[in-house]
Amino acid sequence: MGKLTPEMKEMLDRQLTFVATSDKSGIPNVGPKGSTMVVDDNTLAYSESTGEKTLRNLEQNPHISVLIFDYEKKEGYQFKGTTELVKEGSLFETISERQNKRKRPPPKVVVKITLTDIYTFKTGFPSTSVT
Ligand SMILES: Cc1cc2nc3c(=O)[nH]c(=O)nc-3n(C[C@H](O)[C@H](O)[C@H](O)COP(=O)(O)O)c2cc1C
Repeated sequence: MGKLTPEMKEMLDRQLTFVATSDKSGIPNVGPKGSTMVVDDNTLAYSESTGEKTLRNLEQNPHISVLIFDYEKKEGYQFKGTTELVKEGSLFETISERQNKRKRPPPKVVVKITLTDIYTFKTGFPSTSVT
């Protein structure tokens, strides 16, 4: 089970995340999801407002990888997890309100990500599992 450290949470608050998904035949897709937020030490969530390739993939295959990178420090994290598509309830309401406050489009679906593995990486070094 992946556990977020304070350093990871700080980077998640500050940097744009990119999420990678694939369909059931393995065709990959990656895209930016700026609404990604920390829910708790083992969970991330974001507003799936676009509802296109990423959502179609997650409907077929719940596995996801999320990347954040600090260009100045030349380091970042890869988070891997399994997703749940949330259409109502407190998490959906929290993310809807947050999107509204930030003047961003509302969620079609909230993607809840339960973290399974976390890797760190730095320029010139192999990625390292940290959980
Ligand atoms: C900086 C930035 C942040 C974005 N954040 C989100 C987001 O939080 N949720 C979302 O659904 N789309 C977001 N988008 C839009 C999608 O990632 C984008 O439309 C994507 O190319 C198409 O989505 P797909 O790859 O799922 O088909 C963002 C786009 C940019 C440029």
